[in-house]
Amino acid sequence: MPDSTPSSAPAVPLLDLKAQYDRIRDEVEPAIRDVIESQMFILGRTVSDFESDIARYCDTDEAVGCASGSDAIMLALMGLGIGPGDEVICPSYTFFATGGYITRAGATPVFADIDPATYNLDPASVREVAGRCRNLKAIMPVHLYGRAADMDAMLAVGGELDVPIVEDAAQAIGSRDATGAPAGSRGAAGCFSFFPTKNLGGFGDGGMVTTNDHGLAERLRILRVHGGERRYYHQVIGVNSRLDALQAAVLRIKLKHLDRWTDERRDNARHYDQRFHRAGAVTSADDWVHADLPLATPAAPDAPARHIYNQYVIRVPAALRDGLRDHLRERNIGTEIYYPVPLHRQECFAYLGYEQGDLPATEAASRETVALPIYAELTREQLDHVAASIIAYVTEHSGATTGGHAGRTV
Ligand SMILES: Cc1ncc(COP(=O)(O)O)c(C=O)c1O
Repeated sequence: MPDSTPSSAPAVPLLDLKAQYDRIRDEVEPAIRDVIESQMFILGRTVSDFESDIARYCDTDEAVGCASGSDAIMLALMGLGIGPGDEVICPSYTFFATGGYITRAGATPVFADIDPATYNLDPASVREVAGRCRNLKAIMPVHLYGRAADMDAMLAVGGELDVPIVEDAAQAIGSRDATGAPAGSRGAAGCFSFFPTKNLGGFGDGGMVTTNDHGLAERLRILRVHGGERRYYHQVIGVNSRLDALQAAVLRIKLKHLDRWTDERRDNARHYDQRFHRAGAVTSADDWVHADLPLATPAAPDAPARHIYNQYVIRVPAALRDGLRDHLRERNIGTEIYYPVPLHRQECFAYLGYEQGDLPATEAASRETVALPIYAELTREQLDHVAASIIAYVTEHSGATTGGHAGRTV
C-alpha cells in the first residue's frame, strides 16, 4: 500500500463525533425533547433509569450518577472516608484527573510505574511504592485507553495491604479484564466519565460511580447533593455533583449502540494491527525497538478480556515522534499525544518531590506514544491511508534513530 499523496487522500480527524450523531439523530432528538417537555433537568427518573442501565451493563449492584468522571473519583474517595493525610497509589501516566482529583479529595497521590506492554499499573511497582507509604488508604488503577488493568494482581496487592481498589474506569466502559469481568465491577468503586470523547460520551460532562457496596452508594447519593439526605438538613459537607437528565437521556440511547460501536473500534484496531505487523511492526509486549519496523501496536489481551480501544496508541522511537505527527498533519490525519508530561513531572505536583528518572517506564511512554484515529465510523480507505502514511514515514526515517532514541528502557 503506497503512501497516499495529500491531494488524493481522505481527511482523517482524530475523532468525528458528528459521524456518530448522524447515525442516532432520529433517536436522540425525541429523547431530548421529552426531557425538555418534562422540565425535570436534575436527577429524576431519566437519571435513575440510566443508573440502573449502567449497573446492569457493568454487572454491579449500584451505580450513582454525578457531574463528571473527575467528580466520580473524588466522590468515591470521599465516600470511602479517604481525605487529608491519606495516600492513594495511582499511575503517573494517565489523564490529569486521576491524580488531580485524589488531591481534590484532600489525599496525596503516590505514583507507581507502569507495565510498558499494557501502559497500566505495574503490580511490582505498586508493591514497592506501598512499602514507602505511611498512610496508604487505596490503590487506584486506571484502565488506560480502554484496556483493563491487571485486576487480579491489584486485588491481591490491595488484600495484602488491606486497602480498597478504586478503579479509574473513565476510559474503559465495556472493557473486560482477564477473568472477563467488566471494568468497574471488581473494585470497591468504579469511576466512569461520559465526556464526549469517551466510547459512551454525552453532549456535555457526566460521570458515574459503580459499586456493589450499598452503604457506599447511599453515602454517594448524599454527598452529591451537598451532603444532605433531606433538603436543607446536612449530615456531612458534600458537593454539588449531579448528572443532569438531558445527559442521561442521550446516554441511554447511546448505551444501546455501545457494543456495536465497540466491535467496530475493535475491527479497526485489528485492521491497523494487520497493516503494521505485515510491515514488520510488533506489539508493545515485544522488543519493538529492534523490530523490522520500529513501531509497537497496542498489545491486545486474549478473550475473555476485551480491549475497547478508547484510544489506539502506537509507540515509535522518541526521535521520530514529532516528525511523524507533522507528516500525518500534512496528510490531514489527526493524532494526539497522551500524555506528554506524566503527572509526577507536572508543575502543580512539584511539591511531591519527584524527579526525572523516578518512573522510567512512564517517562518512556510519555516520549514515545501517539494516538491514532480509531472511532467506529472510520472507513477502510481512511484506515489504510493512516497506516500507509505511518509505515512510509517510519520506514524512511528509522535508520536515523539508531542510538538516538530512548528505546525500551525497562
Ligand atoms: C483516565 C481518566 N480519569 C479521569 C477522567 C476525568 O473524567 P472527566 O473528564 O469526565 O472529568 C478522564 C477523562 O477525561 C480520564 O481519561
